[in-house]
Amino acid sequence: MAQDKVRVGVIGCGAGLFHLEGYAAEPRAEVVALAGLDTDRCEMLAGRFSVPRIYRDYQDLLAQEDIDAVSIAVPNFLHMPVTVAALEAGKHVLIEKPLARHVDEGKLMLEAAERTGKILAVSFQRRTRHDVEIVRDQIACGALGRVYYSKAYWMRRSGIPGLGSWFTSKEAAGGGPLIDLGVHVLDMALYMLGNPVVTTVSAATYSEIGPRGRGNWVGRRTSQGSDDPVNYEVEDLATAFLRFEDGGTLLLEASWASFTEMDDDFGVQFYGSEGGARIHSKKYADVDTLDLFSEIGDTTTDSHPRLVSRPGHAQIINGFVDGILNGTPVSPDGEEGLDRVRLIDAVYRSAALGREIDIAEVG
Ligand SMILES: NC(=O)c1ccc[n+]([C@@H]2O[C@H](COP(=O)([O-])OP(=O)(O)OC[C@H]3O[C@@H](n4cnc5c(N)ncnc54)[C@H](O)[C@@H]3O)[C@@H](O)[C@H]2O)c1
Repeated sequence: MAQDKVRVGVIGCGAGLFHLEGYAAEPRAEVVALAGLDTDRCEMLAGRFSVPRIYRDYQDLLAQEDIDAVSIAVPNFLHMPVTVAALEAGKHVLIEKPLARHVDEGKLMLEAAERTGKILAVSFQRRTRHDVEIVRDQIACGALGRVYYSKAYWMRRSGIPGLGSWFTSKEAAGGGPLIDLGVHVLDMALYMLGNPVVTTVSAATYSEIGPRGRGNWVGRRTSQGSDDPVNYEVEDLATAFLRFEDGGTLLLEASWASFTEMDDDFGVQFYGSEGGARIHSKKYADVDTLDLFSEIGDTTTDSHPRLVSRPGHAQIINGFVDGILNGTPVSPDGEEGLDRVRLIDAVYRSAALGREIDIAEVG
C-alpha cells in the first residue's frame, strides 16, 4: 500500500450505512467509492459521508486499482460471487453476515482468500458488545463453572424485512429469520462459550404468518428483486437444539413474526454449575441488558453490571484495518463465518428431514 490510509470501497447502500459510519470513526481508513443499484440511496450516502465516486456495477468498483479493501453489504446470494471477485481483484474483504447461503459457497470464499492471501473478515458486530465481552470473560475464567445449558433467541412480533423482497426468497436469501437474525445470536452464544464443537442438530421450521401476507416490517427496507407482495418462501420461525461434544446443549430460536410479548428482542442465557448469565436486549439496547447470577457464601446474588454502549461495526472495522496494516488476526474470520453457515445448513437440513442430524453430514 503506497499511501498511509487504507482506501476502501463499500458495496451495497443499505447496511452499507453501518460500514460508512464505522469507517468515519477510523482515521486510518478512507472510503473512496460506493457501489449499489439503488442510485438514490447511494447518492444520499455519498453526500453524507463525502464519498467521491459511485458505481452501479460492483465490478467497476473492483477494477479501481487504488482501492485496497471492500466492505460488502449486498443480498445474501451475492456474498459469494462479489467476495470471490473482490479477493481476486486483490482487495481485502469485510463481508456482512451471514458469510454465505450455504457451506459450499462459504468454502469457495475461504479458498479464494487462501489463494489470494487477502483478509476475509465477517461482520458479526454484536460480539463486540460490552455485555458479550463480560460474559465471555466470566465463562473463560471459570466464574460460571461448567456451562451445561444455553439459550439464544431473536424474536420479533412483526418484523419480516420486506415481504416479496430478496429477504423472503429462498434462492436469494438462503433462508428466513434463522439465517438473518438467528445467525447473530448463534455467533454470540458460541463466541462467549469459546467455540465448543457442535456434534448434532435437531430442528423444526414453521411458516405460518408470512405466507398469508402478514407480519411485515413496514417501511424499514426497500424491496429489491421480486415485486410480488406475497412471495414468501422461507420460514418465519425456526427452533433448534444443538448438542456439543462436551455434553452441553444450546436451544436456538429465531422469528421475524410471531405472537409473543417480544417486539424485536434478542438474548443469550447461560446456565453453569457455579453461576449463570443472561443478556436480554429489547429493540437493540446495549446497556442495562446483562444480569449475572451467583452466590456470595450461601446468599443468592444477582448483579447488573453498568455497561457502556459500543458502536459494533466501528469495532469490527477497527480490527479489519488493524489486520490490513499490522497483520493482526481478525475476529470473526472466514473460518468462524463458515462454521456458523455449516450450523445454519444443519438446522435447515434437520428441519427438512424431520430428524436429528450429525454435523458431519453437512460437509
Ligand atoms: N450486521 C448487521 O447487523 C446487518 C444488518 C442489516 C443487514 N445486514 C446484511 O447486509 C446485507 C444487505 O442487507 P440490506 O438490509 O442492506 O439489504 P438491502 O436490500 O436494503 O440493500 C442491498 C444493497 O445491495 C445493493 N445491490 C444489490 N445487487 C447489487 C449488485 N449486483 N451490485 C451492486 N450492489 C447491489 C442494492 O442496490 C442495495 O444497495 C445482507 O447480507 C444482510 O444480512 C447485516
